[in-house]
This record gives sequence, C-alpha cells and structure tokens, in this order.
Amino acid sequence: MNDRASGGVSAGPSNVREPSGTAATTPSAAPVSYKLVVVGGDGIGPEVITGGVRVVEATSRIFGFTVEWTPILVGGVAIDAFGTGIRDEDLATCAGSDAVYFGAIGDPRYSDPKAKVRPEQALLKLRKELGLYANLRPVTVQPILAASSPVRESLVKGVDLMIVRELTGGLYFGKPSETRFMPSGREVVDTLFYTEHEIRRVVKLAFELARGRRRKVTSVDKANVLESSRLWRTVVEEVAPEYPDVELEHRLVDACAMSLVTRPAQFDVMVMENLFGDILSDEASVLAGSLGMLPSASIGERRTAHGVFGMYEPIHGSAPDIAGKDIANPLATILSAAMLFRTSLGRADVALAIEAAVADALAAGYRTPDLVAAIGDQPGTKKVGTQNMADAVVSALIARTPSLAGLPTVNTWVSGNG
Ligand code: NAD
Ligand code: IPM
Ligand code: MN
Repeated sequence: MNDRASGGVSAGPSNVREPSGTAATTPSAAPVSYKLVVVGGDGIGPEVITGGVRVVEATSRIFGFTVEWTPILVGGVAIDAFGTGIRDEDLATCAGSDAVYFGAIGDPRYSDPKAKVRPEQALLKLRKELGLYANLRPVTVQPILAASSPVRESLVKGVDLMIVRELTGGLYFGKPSETRFMPSGREVVDTLFYTEHEIRRVVKLAFELARGRRRKVTSVDKANVLESSRLWRTVVEEVAPEYPDVELEHRLVDACAMSLVTRPAQFDVMVMENLFGDILSDEASVLAGSLGMLPSASIGERRTAHGVFGMYEPIHGSAPDIAGKDIANPLATILSAAMLFRTSLGRADVALAIEAAVADALAAGYRTPDLVAAIGDQPGTKKVGTQNMADAVVSALIARTPSLAGLPTVNTWVSGNG
C-alpha cells in the first residue's frame, strides 16, 4: 500500500509533518515516547485491538521508541462498569494523549430501541468532544485480494479512493432528535443541520488531500431533494476555485452508491455528509474483500508534539455474531495503527513498515475466515484466527528487520478491557 493510500495528510493547513528519519537511525539521548489511549470496547473490539497493540509493540522494539499505553473502558463494557458509555475523566485522558487507538463498541444487550444509555453514544461523544470533524476512510485493494471481492476482479483493480466523511455534524448531531407523543399518535424527528463553517472545513481538507493524490474530488450529496445538500454544494463550489489544480465533480448519493460498485476505480477523494459517509464506506469495503480490511482516521484541528491529534479505528463494528471466537480479521485495526503513526505521530516510516508487513502476511498466504469466505480455500493459503494473523504481521515486520529476528513477540500491554 502506498503512502497516500492509507490516509497520509501530506499537504495543507492541518497537516502531518513528514518524518526526517527513523528513530532507529537518529541518534538521541532518550527514546521518544508516545502517549496512546487504547480502547478495546465490545464484541470483537478487544480481540482486534490486542492484535493491533502487539503490532505496535513490535514496531516500538524495531524502531526504538516507547509507547505509554493508557487503557480505558468505552461502550457496553463501560456501561456495565460505570453506568455510562464513557466517563468524563476518560474523555479527558483521551484529550491529553497523542492519539486514541480504538477497537469497536456496540452490544446487543443495549440495542433495544427504548434503551436510554447506549454504547454508540460514547463514540459520538468522543468524536464531538475531541473535535474530530473529519473521518478519513481509505479504500485500497491489496492486489493479492483482488479476487476476494464479490465485485469482479477487473473492476476492483486499481481502486485507490479516500472517503472523507464529515463526522461531527449532519443527521447524527442535529437537534431536535426525538420521538413525540401526540394525541394522534407518535411522531419522530431527526435534524440534518450544518453551518457553512462545518461544511467548508471538511471540504477544504478533501481538496488538500486530493493535492497529495490524483487531484480529483467527488462531492456527494442529495441536492435534488435536500436543502442541506444545496448549501453543501454551494460551499463546495465556493471552495473549488482555491484549488484550480484539482478536478471537481458533484454526484448524487443514490447514483454514486451504484457507481461505487460498477466503476470504483474512477474515484479519488470523495467528500460527504456524516450519514452518507457511514453508508458508502461500508459499501466500499466490499471492494477490498472484507469489512475487516478498512481502517480509518478521525482527525480535527488540535496538534500534538508529533502531528495532528486523532482517533484510529477500523470502520467495522463489534460484530457480535463472531465475537469471542478468535476469527475476526484484525487487519483493519492494524492498518489503522499505520494511519495513527503517519498522521498523529509523524512517523511515515513506521506506517510504511506496518503496511508492508500486512502485504507480506497476505502474500505468505495467511487469511482470516472472512477473506476465505468469498472465494473459498485457495492453494497456498493458510486459514488463521485473529491473533495468528497479527502474529503473521509481527513476523513479517521482524523478517524485514533481520538484526532483530528472534526478539520476543509477547504482548506487554495489560488489558483493562476485561
Ligand atoms: P459490524 O461491522 O459489527 O458487522 C457487520 C458484519 O461484518 C458482521 O457479519 C460481522 O461479523 C462482519 N465483520 C465485521 N468486522 C469484521 C472483522 N474484523 N472480521 C470479520 N468479519 C467482520 O456491524 P453490525 O453487526 O451492524 O453492528 C454491530 C455493532 O457494532 C452495533 O452495535 C453497531 O452499533 C456497532 N458498530 C460500532 C462501530 C464502531 O465501534 N466504530 C462501527 C460500526 C458498528
Ligand atoms: C461507524 C459506526 C458508527 C457510526 C456507530 C457505531 C455510531 O457505524 O463508525 O461507522 O455510525 O458512525
Ligand atoms: Mn458505520
């Protein structure tokens, strides 16, 4: 996977510094230390994040830095422990860190539509309170998995797109959002609210990202029906002249959903409202062969000592249907760590090493069941579980660093997530 494919924000105002070298080769007194908050969460969340943490720990030994992990409880596990999806003090811990590394939340025990406290509220609170207005969801196809997609191989070849999802506005946060009990029966309202500032900042980020890629922005809306989309489109048109080197197109979300599977390679950067981005990114994951392959970065304006503060998580959820079986694909979470290194820690070197190791593990034939499901067992492939897939990535990292081969690969992170 190349640098831009995994979400490198490599130009523009809220950008990430490119590293000047690796810590392993840069002489310095004390090893640099990064402060990361880690959230296992619910369902497969702790399983995939354990795999991801093991990969990060391996990079710390290889590149010579240390990671100070702070595990916190978020989601259903936090509701069980504290009665709330996230405590204020844990939110403050996130705000004081270099980045948050997040598994997944969501628990069927709290999915009753009448439930007042829900795990998902905690995730929305994190995004809102931490000012993470842009969610970058890169969609690339590992060449070796091209045949794993239900979409024809010839169509997914060369797919390299970036969904930029607005993350702290739109239908997710607009008020009112309530059910009303009227004499005539129940009625309900959700509100799609945006200020032009909210639209402009995420659109500008999309244009900046396009400059580091193939210089094309597709703005997705429903301007033929929604007033909110008409302002969205107007603001996009206002921003575009600042980027004369970037091609712009507008697409209506319904037809765009169709094009994503019929002609996906035409897209570069796609920018859209919160809910549209949620839906189209899960759809786009079929191009990569599995929902378990897509990483994400949620970023805002705050800078840390090393880069832009952010939260990094796979786009998938807690997958209760496969939780506790060690069969979830950890690669989306591991690739999210690569985005974390590149964007929040200014370490493109580490990011590239992780991405190369993921490609190596796949090239060596390792497949979690989700990747086998689409095309069945192929000669030369080895079906593995979550932790063995993470092991394969760690082994690939070490193999690329011959002098370090033989180092222990045990997980030194003590989970606080039960
Ligand atoms: P999901 O993404 O959890 O699962 C959808 C399907 O994909 C399931 O069949 C699941 O088994 C499969 N899948 C997902 N991740 C996988 C992986 N890594 N490897 C293999 N297969 C994988 O979506 P859902 O079932 O609609 O939602 C379950 C819960 O997760 C809900 O409570 C939802 O709110 C929550 N959720 C959380 C997040 C998050 O924490 N960021 C994201 C999406 C959904
Ligand atoms: C995602 C999830 C979340 C969202 C839920 C769990 C609140 O689906 O991160 O894609 O809708 O944003
Ligand atoms: Mn989603």
